Amino acid sequence: MYLHVPYCRVRCGYCDFNTYTNLSMGAGASVGDYVGTLATEMRLVRSAMDAAGLPPRPASTVFLGGGTPTMLPVSDLAGMLNLVRDVFGLDGDAEVTTEANPDTVDERALAGLAEAGFTRVSVGMQSAVPHVLRVLDRTHSPQRVPQVVRWAARAGLATSLDLIYGTPGESMEDWRRSLDAAVEIGPDHLSAYALVIEEGTRMWAQVRRGELPVPEDDDEAAKYEMADAVLAQAGYSWYEISNWARPGSECRHNQAYWLDWDWWGAGPGAHSHLGDVRLWNVKHPLAWTNRVAGGRLAVDGHEVVDAGSRELEQVMLGIRLREGLDLANLGGSAGPGSGRTPAHLVPVVAGLVADGLIEPSAAMRGRAVLTLRGRLMADTVTRALTG
Ligand SMILES: C[S@@+](CC[C@H](N)C(=O)[O-])C[C@H]1O[C@@H](n2cnc3c(N)ncnc32)[C@H](O)[C@@H]1O
Ligand code: SF4
Repeated sequence: MYLHVPYCRVRCGYCDFNTYTNLSMGAGASVGDYVGTLATEMRLVRSAMDAAGLPPRPASTVFLGGGTPTMLPVSDLAGMLNLVRDVFGLDGDAEVTTEANPDTVDERALAGLAEAGFTRVSVGMQSAVPHVLRVLDRTHSPQRVPQVVRWAARAGLATSLDLIYGTPGESMEDWRRSLDAAVEIGPDHLSAYALVIEEGTRMWAQVRRGELPVPEDDDEAAKYEMADAVLAQAGYSWYEISNWARPGSECRHNQAYWLDWDWWGAGPGAHSHLGDVRLWNVKHPLAWTNRVAGGRLAVDGHEVVDAGSRELEQVMLGIRLREGLDLANLGGSAGPGSGRTPAHLVPVVAGLVADGLIEPSAAMRGRAVLTLRGRLMADTVTRALTG
């Protein structure tokens, strides 16, 4: 289950997530009524599933994302988790994560989350360098992050940090400082994303006006390589292109996305994935509330993906993983599980090995596993395997 919380205290200039800083949008869509509307939505979804003959499936992972879920009080976040339990069911050993901004949680809140059944918190650190944080419009002080992680760990929560590299004005030394700081904090899991200048954001306008430089591919590639080296040295292994973990601390929820599992997303703009059907909710919190309050599902549209698009999706996501792709699953005559690469892909795979983009030993076993260079060129590999 994915549960979206569309509120933030401040809108970061680079972010185009479905989030809002006006917290009072009217009945049902305001911060104070949010969980009530979500409850109505989830019950409508459950009724629709029952009516369609879909048996209840307890959630094995729950992820509260945003926005900033920790803009809501702990009692609301606990209420959201209880809703999942009551309406869909929750596996006894489910992974339950919430995203958090460093300045929206304190020691009590983190202890409360653990008590309510959360198992994991993902903290938006982004950088340890004040001038980089300023360009990103982040409001927290670098010192707040180690404190939050300590509180979370003391409460028994697994911890993850989000980092961003390639921010305009960030030097290699700045990035090294952020990586060293993250390693020093010692979370169980780390994500590092290259800054994307999303069209329509404030940062996009600043870049277009020439007030900020365009991020450079070579700089981002060098920073990725630095991240992988520093994190590996500190005992974190990559398990997806942008994600590193101590052994056993990989995020199960993210793996579910990459491995093409089913998930249901609730809340404004949330996406869902059931077999070959993709669905998405009405985006604006007020429109979402009006739908749900009127007794209608919040689903705004859906698409049934054909076999070709599904294979492309699976390659695009699967190739990002450490275990890579089973080449026998890709169209052709070999057949899933045969361990054999379909004949039409044999020269393609040989070319990718020769270019240093996939590992030769894995390729011999019928799997495509990216090398470090391949991780920087995953789109090229996807195109080659699906072209
Ligand atoms: C919903 S936010 C995490 C929770 C919280 N709102 C926060 O920012 O701390 C998800 C993550 O997406 C990443 N992100 C958002 N916009 C991005 C962009 N344009 N480029 C790269 N990463 C981005 C950030 O690292 C952020 O931590
Ligand atoms: S990065 Fe996080 S805090 Fe910043 S606007 Fe996006 S969701 Fe909100």
